[in-house]
Amino acid sequence: MAGARITGWGTALPEKILTNVDLESMMDTTDDWIRERTGITERRVGGLTSTMAIEAGQKAIDRSGVDPAAIDLVLLATSSADQIMPATAPTVQNELGLNCGAFDLNAACSGFVYGLVNGYAMAGIGYERVLVIGSDILTSYLDWDDRGTAILFGDGAGAVMLEPAKETTLLGSDLGSDGATRHLLYIDHGGKLQMKGREVFRHAVRAVVDSCNKAMAQAGLTADDIAIFVPHQANVRILDSACAKLGIPLERTAVVLDKTGNTSAGSVPLALVDALEKGDIQPGDNILFSGFGAGMTWGSAVVRWEP
Ligand code: UT7
Repeated sequence: MAGARITGWGTALPEKILTNVDLESMMDTTDDWIRERTGITERRVGGLTSTMAIEAGQKAIDRSGVDPAAIDLVLLATSSADQIMPATAPTVQNELGLNCGAFDLNAACSGFVYGLVNGYAMAGIGYERVLVIGSDILTSYLDWDDRGTAILFGDGAGAVMLEPAKETTLLGSDLGSDGATRHLLYIDHGGKLQMKGREVFRHAVRAVVDSCNKAMAQAGLTADDIAIFVPHQANVRILDSACAKLGIPLERTAVVLDKTGNTSAGSVPLALVDALEKGDIQPGDNILFSGFGAGMTWGSAVVRWEP
């Protein structure tokens, strides 16, 4: 199998900031409750899944320096596509001026990790330059009278460029799903987001820990070998709990949810790029990615950073 590595990255966030204090005037909640129970202070709202995906994708292409004509595939992870049909990825391909295949992948909040693993797999069969994007606008589907969900989500996107490498930098991965729990988090056609928060929380911690351990075992690594953990950003208490069980301190964990809320498929690349900008990731580091969300789905990937 041909190898691949991440050579570019980029993000996009809508301009409009919605703070916890703003939410206090919209529903029966408080800034204190939201910060204590979730770790979130503010989130961005507005925009379109395609627009944010295009902006993040363009930045990833520019950062990698890859010739757009050489890109072989656009893989867009989203559960909030612009339309039911067509997929949003062809819009992104067209607006970026690319000449390649493009498709959407829906694994909800696990979408970016699913996309990354699939991007490496496609690279392995000859699609050498793959643009992997996660973009979601779940705030469009929120019931602003439901304080159990409306406080959690934000909009955002992130992207990475995969290019050929002598050896693969995907050292281990694990993807899982359990459709028996699909009633815990869903959006019906024409409906609003519904969630059983406490149950999602319990499932999330267990799934993240099991999945990360499987991916690390496949890579032949332990928690001590992980330079940075880049998890899905849903609730800082989920991260605390998962980190404690994995034996990875929070200091080695990328956290952006205080400023973004839960941006679904956008959250893992938003956290990755934030960690890169802070200088928390160096060449040769092992990164542990992890996501979980509706489905339920979950996924983890251990990637060596060789940009
Ligand atoms: O990508 C996957 C997406 N989903 C998740 O990751 C969600 C995972 N779940 C969670 O993050 C948490 O379950 C929530 C943040 C959604 C809720 O936190 P919790 O600690 O599980 O609270 P709870 O639902 O058990 O509610 C505790 C209390 C309740 O009041 P009573 O019944 O004890 O009087 C709620 O009515 O907190 C109340 N409550 C609120 N109070 C103020 C629930 N939401 C709010 C709110 N403001 N926004």
